[in-house]
Formats: sequence, C-alpha cells, structure tokens
Amino acid sequence: MSPQQAVAAVVVLAAGQGTRMRSATPKVLHEVGGRSMLGHVLAATAPLGAGETLVVVGAGREAVAGHLAAVAPGARPVVQDEQRGSGHAAAVALAAVPDLGGPVLVVNGDAPLLRERTVTDLVEAHRAAGAALTVLTARVADPTGLGRIVRDGTGAVTGIVEERDATPEQRAITEVNAGVYLGDAAALRGALARIGQDNDQGEVYLTDAVGLLVGDGETVAGTPAEDPDDVLGCNDRVELAARRRTLNDRVLDDLMRAGVTVVDPATTWVDVTATVAADALLEPGVQLRGTTSVATGAVVGPDTTLVDTTVGEGASVVRSHVLGSSIGPGASVGPFSYLRPGSDLGPGSKVGAFVETKNARVGEGSKVPHLSYVGDATIGRGANVGAATVFVNYDGVAKHHTTIGDHVRIGSDTMLVAPVTVGDGAYTAAGSVITHDVPPGAMGVARAAQRNVAGWVRRRRPGSAAARAAEAATGPGSGAEGDDAGGQGPSDTTTSRGS
Ligand code: UD1
Ligand code: CA
Repeated sequence: MSPQQAVAAVVVLAAGQGTRMRSATPKVLHEVGGRSMLGHVLAATAPLGAGETLVVVGAGREAVAGHLAAVAPGARPVVQDEQRGSGHAAAVALAAVPDLGGPVLVVNGDAPLLRERTVTDLVEAHRAAGAALTVLTARVADPTGLGRIVRDGTGAVTGIVEERDATPEQRAITEVNAGVYLGDAAALRGALARIGQDNDQGEVYLTDAVGLLVGDGETVAGTPAEDPDDVLGCNDRVELAARRRTLNDRVLDDLMRAGVTVVDPATTWVDVTATVAADALLEPGVQLRGTTSVATGAVVGPDTTLVDTTVGEGASVVRSHVLGSSIGPGASVGPFSYLRPGSDLGPGSKVGAFVETKNARVGEGSKVPHLSYVGDATIGRGANVGAATVFVNYDGVAKHHTTIGDHVRIGSDTMLVAPVTVGDGAYTAAGSVITHDVPPGAMGVARAAQRNVAGWVRRRRPGSAAARAAEAATGPGSGAEGDDAGGQGPSDTTTSRGS
C-alpha cells in the first residue's frame, strides 16, 4: 500500500442469488441510471485507489465476471462456490490475497446510491477513531429488513443484529447497518474465521465480526452516513425502482443547479454517464442515456430518447428516438423521427418529420424535411431531399452507399438505388428511380412519361360522381377532358390515340 492509498483493498460482495429480484440476471447486474448496481459501487470506491479490487462472484458468476472485464478490467473476480453468507464471502475474498495487510473496505454489491464522498468520509472516521473496524451506518425512518446497530450506554458499538434475529427492543433501533465496512485486514481475517452460523438463516454473517472484535477488546466504530439514501440496498424490483428514482432525482438536481432547465423532473430520466450543459432545456418525457451529451442552448423533447448521442449548441430534437448519432449545432430533428447509429447531422441541417436515417452524413444546412429513409449516405452542403425519398441501400445481400453533392435538389419520391452518386448542383425529377449517376448540374429523370386518356371517365364510369363532375367542367359528351399525351397510361386501347 502506498502512502496515498487510503485502503489496501476493496472487496465487493456480489455473489448472492438476489432471490427477491426473481430474475435470470444476477442482482448486481441490474441497471440503475445507466450503470449496473455493481458498476455504481465500483465507481464510488475507485477513487480510493486501492491496490486490489476483489469482487466476490457466485450466482451468475460468468455474467458478473464478464461484466467486470468490460467495465472494470482492473477488478478481480473471486469465486465463492457456495453462498454461505456475507461473512463467508468476505473470508473467501481475503483468502485470495493472503499477504495483504492494512485497511480493507468491504462493501455490499447492491448499493447503487453509494457515493465517493460517503466512502471517503468512512475512511476519515476510521482513521480518526483508530478502530480495528468501522461500520458505516444510517439513521432511517423505516429500518425494516436491515441489520440494527446495537450500542451500549456510552454509545459504543457492541454488535449488529439482523432483523430476523433481533429482540423487539432491538427492532425498535433505527440506526442500521449500511453494508459498508472498513477494517484492518488481520483483524478481519481473525474474526471472520470464528464466525458461526447460529442464526435464523444459518448463514455466516459478516455482521457478527463486530461483536467478536468488541469481545476481543478491539475498538469498533460506527459512523452514520451523511445522506442515508447513499447506503440503501436493493433487494427486489420495488426497491430497484425506488433507487432509480432517487438516483435520477440527484442527477436532475445537479443539472438544474448547474443551469439546465428541466421542465418536468418526474418524466425526465438522465443517466449518470450523460452530460447536459447550462442553458440547455429538457422538455417533459426525455431520456438521455449512455454517453449522450447536450450542448448549451439545445432543446430536447418533449418525448425524446437519446442514446450515446451528441447534441450541438442550439440544436433541437422533438419527439424522436436517436441512437449513436451526432446532431450538429443549430440542427433540427423531428417531430417523429428515428436516427439510427452513425447518423451525423451537420450544422444547421434538418431531419424533419417521419424520417429514418442510418449511417448517414447530412451536410451543413442540408434538409431532409419529410417522410424519407436515408441509409448509408453522404449528403453535401445546402442540399434538399424531397418528401418520401428513399435511399435504396440494400440489394438483399449487401448494403451500398449513395453520395449526394452540394446544393443538390432531390425531387419528391425519388428512389436512389445505391451505389449511386448525384453530383454537385444536380436535380432529380420527382418520382424518379435513379439507378445511374447524375453528373453535376444535370437533371436526372427516370420515370414513365405521362399520357392522358381523353373521355375515359365518361365512357368507363358513366353516371358516377366523377363523370358528372367531368361533364360539368367540359360539357356533355364533348370528349374534351384532356389530351391523350401518348405513352403508357392505363390500358384502354379502344380510345387512346397512338396505341
Ligand atoms: C445485509 C446485512 C445487513 C445490512 C444490509 C444492508 C448481513 C448479514 N446483513 O443484509 O446487516 O443492513 O446488508 O443492505 O450481511 N453475498 C455474497 N455471498 C453470500 C451472501 C451474500 O456475496 O453468500 C453478498 C450479496 O450479493 C450482497 C451482500 O453480500 O451484495 C449482502 O447480502 P444480502 O443477502 O443482500 O444481505 P441483506 O439481507 O441485504
Ligand atoms: Ca442486500
């Protein structure tokens, strides 16, 4: 242990079944505010800079170890084969580092609200007390289900008793065990080795180390957490929702104090990993997830989900779902659009209503205003993509790219069959199916010419409202409802010229 290190090791107890979650997913992997519960505990304890971080795994060990490798590669999983209780779990962890001495932080893995500050306060209290073991406690209104801190007449901690083993008097105690302990490695090893299973659950309770060390004449301190919310565990889905709510409230309070307008905190959910700048505005029904960042002056919502997405200064995103994308400064999205990974909207660009994009760059000031699919595309600057355009990127086997130059005008209902390029300043005619490149400045037309079959309605739909309207417009039997322009109109060979 180096002098800067407050603790020699952090031991996270994460092997329990989590039976009350009724889940195929190990309890500590359930997500709260963008991190697993285990991830929160590791984030709160990482700043201690412990030389060793040991995570006791058991139930769902492959999943937990796999998650650890992804989020905390420096942490080491230690397998507890049989879940014989929290004391046994701590003993298994210490057995994995037989030569380790000095202060060890032992913490339950199901404490998603734990914060760095609370942990460092415990370290300070432990130092100040010169104790063999210091227990973090919490004074709570409702202690149901938690271990009670038993103190003697002088206020010294004498033991922890689990609720199911407590006397009625002990149950009335409202100072509870937070499940965070800081103890000297040697003292802990000695006590853990002596803990029995003489309790209602027949488990090896870590909490019994307190009474044993007190019996040895060691000093055991108990220090209450400043914010009792910090140490709330999570044993079922009702508690999971409550912890999520508390964490979200904390995140939103921090954002609001830092200058973000949150119109409706009750329906706004922001992961701990997301960032929002001052003077951004979050409308009701917004979720900001993962690594999302929102710049100043941006307006998000209402009813918008952003995952791993960057929103630039002054941009707006309304009623949309956005994944892994970048929305440039001053750009606008929605309402009702779906931006899939790799969408990159340049400054001042627009992706309007009912548009889906994927792996698509929309250049500065370019617009895709209505009802389009833009997949695997590069669009230059100042271009306009007409309503109902489809970037036809998939041939059934492979995806292909479409390139649209600067200041291009794509006519409404154009099918751009990739791979294809429309050069700078070119146009496409509405309704075209573009299968060949359009050179710069050209007009690409790829559609059937129109022909009108004169008098068709009078002859083929006699007596209909349409026929009466046509007659009123052109006079009875004039046959002047329009010229037959030739080409491939509706088949009516008896009346159309030129066929
Ligand atoms: C525990 C404490 C209780 C405290 C509460 C705070 C004990 C005996 N009781 O109760 O005093 O008020 O936390 O939330 O510790 N674990 C293992 N291996 C095992 C058993 C448990 O790794 O064999 C882990 C669990 O994954 C969990 C932690 O230890 O992270 C605590 O176990 P849990 O069953 O949740 O204990 P609680 O009943 O909540
Ligand atoms: Ca628990």
